[in-house]
Amino acid sequence: MAKLDYSPPAPVPPQSRLGLIDILIRLKRNPLECWSEDFFRDPVCRLRLPFLDAFLVHEPKAIKRVLMDNAKNYPKDAIQRRILSSGLADGLLSVEGERWEIQRRALAPLFARRTVNSFARAMLTAADELVAKWSKLGATTIDVAAEMTLITLRVLTLTIFSDGIGGDLDEFSAAMTAYFDVVGRIGALDLLGVPTFVPRPGHGRLRRTMAYFEGIIDRIVQMRHERLAREDAPDDLLTLLLKALDPSTGLQLDSTEIRSNILTFLSAGHETTANTLTWSLFLLSQSPEWRARAREEAERELSSLDGLADRLVVARAVVEEALRLYPPIAALSRSALESDLLGDVKVGRRSLIVIAPYVLHRHRAIWDRPDVFDPSRFLPDARSTIPRFTYLPFGIGPRTCIGSSFALQEATIVLAVLIRNFDMSLSADAHVWPVQRITLRMAKGLPMWIRRRDGAAANIGYLQDPPERVGNVAL
Ligand code: HEM
Repeated sequence: MAKLDYSPPAPVPPQSRLGLIDILIRLKRNPLECWSEDFFRDPVCRLRLPFLDAFLVHEPKAIKRVLMDNAKNYPKDAIQRRILSSGLADGLLSVEGERWEIQRRALAPLFARRTVNSFARAMLTAADELVAKWSKLGATTIDVAAEMTLITLRVLTLTIFSDGIGGDLDEFSAAMTAYFDVVGRIGALDLLGVPTFVPRPGHGRLRRTMAYFEGIIDRIVQMRHERLAREDAPDDLLTLLLKALDPSTGLQLDSTEIRSNILTFLSAGHETTANTLTWSLFLLSQSPEWRARAREEAERELSSLDGLADRLVVARAVVEEALRLYPPIAALSRSALESDLLGDVKVGRRSLIVIAPYVLHRHRAIWDRPDVFDPSRFLPDARSTIPRFTYLPFGIGPRTCIGSSFALQEATIVLAVLIRNFDMSLSADAHVWPVQRITLRMAKGLPMWIRRRDGAAANIGYLQDPPERVGNVAL
């Protein structure tokens, strides 16, 4: 029997506001537990912290003012900059002002629709490799969360460095996870406004991990310069990045910016997309109705590459609903340069502004049955009626995610391939719980029982047009 009103796991919001000590404890354990019921009901809430006046903004017009109309008044704040910028200070995620404008214009073509479409084949190749790997396992239980982390890294390496990273992908992935663990903690020092030059716990480990990444990236970039000089470089994101030019100023990115942006793409596009896929697979495991619809569509549509992601409307709706319930970037924060009016609320200079997609996407005044899993909200006709500024998994305005089409296409294709090829059910000992550690992920992974479906097309057989160059990547 289909569970039509299924509400997947989420912390129950406390009925009243928490005190400072409680906030600090929960921030360390799981920031999602800090949101009390009033945040999910009220448009703009004020929170007075020692040395910090914070406004939690979940009203569409006020969000438009902060992220779009008056965005220049609201640069990213110290907490967000520290968390996102450790070691990536010169990448697109963290730069501000003129350097950001130059980078954004120069990098836009890397993620334009046509370029992203051309990556569909690499995404299918990665999905197909995973099908081959899982098929060899027989019927067994695996940690789907860990597998999704590997496949999204694989897609990034295939699309950024299509001639390989010249090293061990598992080791690279483990270093990435360690990096997120340290960088993603919001601690007492942040909330008390202690300046960012004061080292946070884990700082030494972070520096060692960054040094490891930098060594690998520098080696790859040097090899690619040599290939560009020989005019035999592949057409991938790295080549596009090294050639990128701001059309307004004619300026290129310098070598530090190149390195920071490679790491930015890897870190910004890796866990976020992996979590999206993990939650999507979990949600489908809880809904026989949507699983059947997604599988029927995948069986019908996965026979050709042309416009594939646009034809997978059910898979895409599942992905978008997973992004609503479990937005990987659960909160965005900004700092007010000057005082401003958000509706009738006066926001003082240097106030912290928080817009939490996690809260916005479950806001009682905006969504019908906000906690219920219902992908039909995102089927094409309904999708176009969702008001702007109410659904922000990728942010909005000038700083909106540059990789959103890439991520949506990847998650949609990989989800469809897996659901077509495997029976997957939640392991009896699974304990699924959302936790926020820079990204919103599963606290204890996602153990699932998997089995190759009888009669599913053999390996790469469903691709009429097999991959050429990206298929023989040496990692
Ligand atoms: C489901 C996957 C993803 C989610 C949920 C996501 C979410 C976001 C969000 C919310 C922002 C805006 C942050 C803010 O306004 O403070 C952002 C920015 C950004 N994202 Fe993503 N992202 C995803 C995938 C990707 C991918 C695949 C890439 C690249 C390969 C990427 C690269 C970036 C970059 C470079 C920025 C900074 C843009 C700028 O400031 O101009 N993201 N992302």
